[in-house]
Amino acid sequence: MKTQVGIIGAGPAGLMLSHLLHLEGIESVVLENRSRDEIEGTIRAGVLEQMTVDLLNETGVGERMMREGHIHHGIELQYNGIRQRVNMHELTEGKSVMVYPQHEVIKDLVAARLEASGKIYFSVSDVSLHDIETTSPKIRFKHDGGEEELVCDFIAGCDGFHGPSRKMIPDRVENQKIYPYGWLGILAETPIANPELIYANHDRGFALISQRTPEIQRHYIQVDPNDDIANWSDDRIWTELKARVETDDWKLPDGPIIQKNIVAMRSFVCEPMQHGRLFIAGDAAHIVPPTGAKGLNLAMGDVQVLSRGIQEHYQTGRNDMLDRYSEIALRRIWKAQRFSWWMTTMLHRDYSHSSFERGIQISELDYVCTSRAALTSLSENYVGLPLEWESASKIKV
Ligand code: APR
Ligand code: PHB
Repeated sequence: MKTQVGIIGAGPAGLMLSHLLHLEGIESVVLENRSRDEIEGTIRAGVLEQMTVDLLNETGVGERMMREGHIHHGIELQYNGIRQRVNMHELTEGKSVMVYPQHEVIKDLVAARLEASGKIYFSVSDVSLHDIETTSPKIRFKHDGGEEELVCDFIAGCDGFHGPSRKMIPDRVENQKIYPYGWLGILAETPIANPELIYANHDRGFALISQRTPEIQRHYIQVDPNDDIANWSDDRIWTELKARVETDDWKLPDGPIIQKNIVAMRSFVCEPMQHGRLFIAGDAAHIVPPTGAKGLNLAMGDVQVLSRGIQEHYQTGRNDMLDRYSEIALRRIWKAQRFSWWMTTMLHRDYSHSSFERGIQISELDYVCTSRAALTSLSENYVGLPLEWESASKIKV
């Protein structure tokens, strides 16, 4: 088998890359080790930055999102029982975010690729990468019991944090921070609790009130990352959520919990994100804690840079953009890392902290909520920073 770009992984990164390349007339094959049902059914976060919304619309895959997603002009921050609305729309001169679940984005992208006769192989196994330092790298894999080899011009490793691609970059540096926090996430059959998302810092720990559809909502509470979900009855979850977010005049509607799990939190950046003809994108290269709602958006930023570089290669024979792929992508990634780390440390309860550090944390929230400059900074990061294609030294503010 031959193709121009071999893509490992049918997450948001791999599918959007395949879609963008197709729009430029460049052929790709996507190899995914899970089934279509599994990738379309996995529950993940659901906040799309303005740039992601624009990208989906401009490339013709935003129609259902515009119909079924919810545009949010702000968020609410809560601490010491005080709730402060952050009017992001006003503070960023008209930008906003869209609440639309990641697996719906996946469904829309899979449908668009298949409709355009795009090649996606689901349920492959034993994927391995070869000859990435040559001009014809290869991917070997098993599919339907047979062994296959895909010969490509480029390989895009979009295979998430545990995939094989990143490990093929020999001179990489992996920068990591593990947090002592976990998120217990639920999907519950209740009406929408609040028009906008609520991020709450409480003595008992962080809580987040989010939403999905008019009938099903997504909420989270901070727990010990090593805690067992079996310790959390539905009653205990609701009691804890209510204790952390309810105010005198705002009550949280409860109902049957249809899904619950606990995830640990880390920040991770791999540098560089390329070697020879291999380029890694999305969770394969970086992980953010979910507090900034950046995971999917970073994946979308990476593949915009990568598709432009590949396009330049085929149109002009030049590799200038591809050579700078890591540099361009990492600038935006590090800024989103900083924001995600900042939101995480500002909002979570760290039980190793002294009363002094707790005082500083609350005072930071107090400052953010009472300073227009700080609110503007939070807002411009939350709705998403732009990709910067030039070197830092050339940019004037
Ligand atoms: N072979 C083939 N496919 C693989 C392999 C492998 N060895 N290993 C992993 N994959 C697939 C996974 O099954 C998954 O579908 O690669 C895909 C990677 O997708 P994601 O993990 O969703 O990562 P990405 O596309 O970078 O999107 C980042 O997804 O993980 C969330 O919160 C994260 O929102 C962020 C976004
Ligand atoms: C979600 O709805 O799943 C969600 C929302 C905001 C976040 C993280 C997750 O910061």
